[in-house]
Amino acid sequence: MPLTEIDHIAIAVHDLDQAISFYEAAFDAVVAHREIVESDGVEEALIKVADSYIQLTTATREDSPIAKYLAKRGEGLHHVGYRVDDCAAALESMVAAGAVPIDAEPRPGSRGTTVAFIHPKGAFGTLIELVQE
Ligand code: CO
Repeated sequence: MPLTEIDHIAIAVHDLDQAISFYEAAFDAVVAHREIVESDGVEEALIKVADSYIQLTTATREDSPIAKYLAKRGEGLHHVGYRVDDCAAALESMVAAGAVPIDAEPRPGSRGTTVAFIHPKGAFGTLIELVQE
């Protein structure tokens, strides 16, 4: 069984600081990690929940996928990150099951992880990220 945990639930937001303030006020949440991923055009803040994270994500430039998502769909649930022991093996297994990969090969993600995205088409409408720590 390659799934080990929900790594994170990613929520697209317009204003990262405002969203963090909301989570701090609502849940006494503490940001465990904050990072700009220049290659993806995103800035994200990770709020730890047990062994998982809520990942608040915003765009750092207008041509990033998150910017396009926000413009088209508005704020809200963006993707689910599934934690796996072996990203390459999980990707292969998903593709064998009929999933449509966005990343042909695993690549570096935030906080030193290795990740691969799966297209919502072919995955029952959910953008899936495979995350290997
Ligand atoms: Co993610």
